[in-house]
Amino acid sequence: MKTILSVVGARPNFMKVAPVDKAFRRYADSIRHLIVHTGQHYDEAMSKVFFDDLELPHPDFYLGVGSGSHAVQTAKIMIEFEKVLEQQKPDLVLVVGDVNSTVACSLVSTKMGIPVGHVEAGLRSFDRTMPEEINRLLTDAIAEYLSVTEPSGVVNLLREGIDEGKIFLVGNVMIDSLIHYREKAKGSRVLSELNLTDRDYTLVTLHRPSNVDGSQNLEKILTVFERLSHRTKIVFPVHPRTRKMLGEFELSKRAASIGSLVLTDPIGYLDFLCLMDHAKLVITDSGGIQEETTYLGIPCLTLRENTERPITVEIGTNQLCGLDVEKVVGKSLDVFDGRPKSGSVPELWDGRTAERIVAVLNTEIYGR
Ligand code: UD1
Repeated sequence: MKTILSVVGARPNFMKVAPVDKAFRRYADSIRHLIVHTGQHYDEAMSKVFFDDLELPHPDFYLGVGSGSHAVQTAKIMIEFEKVLEQQKPDLVLVVGDVNSTVACSLVSTKMGIPVGHVEAGLRSFDRTMPEEINRLLTDAIAEYLSVTEPSGVVNLLREGIDEGKIFLVGNVMIDSLIHYREKAKGSRVLSELNLTDRDYTLVTLHRPSNVDGSQNLEKILTVFERLSHRTKIVFPVHPRTRKMLGEFELSKRAASIGSLVLTDPIGYLDFLCLMDHAKLVITDSGGIQEETTYLGIPCLTLRENTERPITVEIGTNQLCGLDVEKVVGKSLDVFDGRPKSGSVPELWDGRTAERIVAVLNTEIYGR
């Protein structure tokens, strides 16, 4: 029996590990799959609700590291994760995405001689001011098995000198979750609770430090909401970082005074999926939501200068707007006036990516 230990830490990790965990159940005779939650995200709304919604088993280990500076958070994860590896001695560690937990656990494992698999490898924004870009580069440099969501990821990894034999273009596990739970999400009552109807609102999420950690940028975002408020309801589930910054810059009152803006706490997986599926337009700076809207065919404006997920722009419904107020407002009006960007679904985003990943790992750990 071999042991594979998967790491989750922050909100965008949960929907990536859930389908992998389900796929491992088919190998229960030969693979023991354990889950470690670092506790990078710890609030009920940022963590627990996702375990419930995604039917993820209770984590086998909870490290409880919580928030802190990048150095403090990364270091705490490393110290605690090393103890788990010493005790469990897994045959492989699986990390997903690009958060601090991803790089911290990859580093510890590799130094202990335990191979790492990275799900969602190869994505590059080429913007090293993003903490996630550093996490992605370092994780991919030391991982043994690199599962890639889109062709650009393969090109990036080859350019960085990664051996071709380590790279597996398998598709997008987050889309596995979306496909699996889309039907169930139809039963969500979130639309009636927020007094919304199909396609009568814009859904917003913003939490990147580059957008919310400065008052000028947050003010630009509020200006966008004010300019759009006569055309659309705006539903904005507010990330803890963003809420804190609205308070610090004394912008909470201005936000509350925008009539058609509905501010909510962070929203669980099924409710959020339902909100995306029925939105007229999505405005975001999230990585995953660019991909989910492309799959769903919902127009998406990304308030960033770049994206590590270029396929969502090339063939999907995504458009990059930076924080250019005129551009965001103009492109939003295009959607409301019946001129949305249409798109198609990337290859291999078919709901079977986790199966492919688990099949590869099974072959690799038992020897070809
Ligand atoms: C992290 C990830 C980011 C991901 C995002 C999704 C890194 C470097 N960043 O950013 O890639 O897109 O998660 O949410 O790993 N907080 C709470 N409760 C929580 C978690 C956080 O209140 O459960 C607050 C804390 O005040 C904390 C702040 O949010 O200081 C930021 O949390 P942190 O984990 O440092 O980064 P995120 O901005 O969430």
